[in-house]
Amino acid sequence: MASTGIKPSEKTLENLQAAFNGESNANAKYTEFATKADEDGYHKVASMFRAAAKAEKIHAEAHARVIKRMGAGPVANIETVHVGSTRENLEAAIAGESYERDVMYPAFIAEADAAGNAAAVRTFNAALEAEKEHARLYTELLNNLAHATVKTSYYVCAICGFTVDKITFERCPVCNAPGEKFEEVS
Ligand code: FE2
Ligand code: FE2
Ligand code: FE2
Repeated sequence: MASTGIKPSEKTLENLQAAFNGESNANAKYTEFATKADEDGYHKVASMFRAAAKAEKIHAEAHARVIKRMGAGPVANIETVHVGSTRENLEAAIAGESYERDVMYPAFIAEADAAGNAAAVRTFNAALEAEKEHARLYTELLNNLAHATVKTSYYVCAICGFTVDKITFERCPVCNAPGEKFEEVS
């Protein structure tokens, strides 16, 4: 039975709200971490925090669209950001991305899939693919922190939030949008 409508599942809606809240807080956190990284002279780290902040906003907005299609309103509770040293901020970012990559999104995708909610599966999956790259790029920066001093361009897919340090493809590997949909952030 083919259906384009979204089946109501309380659990899927709850997970969408949790993901919306998480992405909204990640956006707030990375925006402050970027300012701190610039102050510390780690301008490449600042560039990556700005790129990831943009990606998390795109994820939040995509989750919000599904929440609205399910007849609810997205709710986020933005917490006060604890800003540490840039090294600590990178460690906190890696911990957050790793949790989303290894625990949160896989569980949310499995639940949405079981509930037959294709739109939720799609939005969770797009975020998952970006978080994998965020974790990898942050880890690279942490491992080479002494050299992360020069402002650097990253590229964010305006449609799905996929984030790369160079464009090596014609179309977004996650959402298939044309390459020109990637926006440069530095
Ligand atoms: Fe995200
Ligand atoms: Fe992320
Ligand atoms: Fe994309």
